[in-house]
Amino acid sequence: MKILTVNQLTKNYAGEVPVEVLKKMNFTVETGEFVAIMGPSGSGKTTLLNCLGTLDQPTSGTILLNDENPATYDKEKLATFRRQQLGFIFQNYNLLSPLTVAENIMLPLTLDHGNLTEMESRTRELMAELGIEKLANKRVHELSGGECQRVAIARALIHDPSLILADEPTGNLDSKAAGDVMEILQQLNQTKKVTTLMVTHDPISASYAKRVIFIKDGELFNEVYLGESREAFYQEILTVLSHLGGGRHEFSTTHLA
Ligand SMILES: Nc1ncnc2c1ncn2[C@@H]1O[C@H](COP(=O)(O)OP(=O)(O)OP(=O)(O)O)[C@@H](O)[C@H]1O
Ligand SMILES: [Mg+2]
Repeated sequence: MKILTVNQLTKNYAGEVPVEVLKKMNFTVETGEFVAIMGPSGSGKTTLLNCLGTLDQPTSGTILLNDENPATYDKEKLATFRRQQLGFIFQNYNLLSPLTVAENIMLPLTLDHGNLTEMESRTRELMAELGIEKLANKRVHELSGGECQRVAIARALIHDPSLILADEPTGNLDSKAAGDVMEILQQLNQTKKVTTLMVTHDPISASYAKRVIFIKDGELFNEVYLGESREAFYQEILTVLSHLGGGRHEFSTTHLA
């Protein structure tokens, strides 16, 4: 079943010099897929993710999520749709520093005025699953980057969203922490069938996905699928990146762990 259908998606930004950022993009994502999106800086990856996540409006074209077209919703319906159907993970975690870890994770449920005991037990369950139960009462400044990102993943999952959208989730992490975060995302995808779309500059992070979509200048450039091994997939990703241009320095090319 398709969870996401992107049809002729175009996004322009007005301004002194108007920019056409996304140009008539078409692609679909099946329920349970794990897709990485790669492309040079400025190619429109964040713009695409923001449109998919209803944080930004397409200029033209449609985005269907679970056969719904959220672009037609009013502000309130859209906010509920976004909170319940989508989970967001950002490069800089976007955690609230006055709150504890547990409060951060529970926040989306609190906004829906759920039952406190149920919210707390759901939060505990998720923290245990992600191995962060010991952090429950800590504040954000007491956490490492990798711990922050695991908390952010828990927060993104608390509503059991249909789709996780992650923009450079390993962008601020060293390779060990990045590997841990990618293993969590991979495992959530494999065991719970969480559909995930992740933008990344890092070919190693991308190799945890099952498909990589490459974009260039707001258009689809290529896509590759995981085949018999992660190592072969990683090499294939590197090959496409070498044809993609936009400066090799943008993409790290260290060896696979
Ligand atoms: N709000 C905005 N107003 C005007 N132009 C914008 C806006 N947001 C993005 N752009 C432009 O759109 C283009 C694509 O930006 P986007 O942030 O989607 O790129 P990206 O692929 O995510 O890049 P990076 O890898 O550096 O994060 C860039 O040229 C950028 O300057
Ligand atoms: Mg970006």
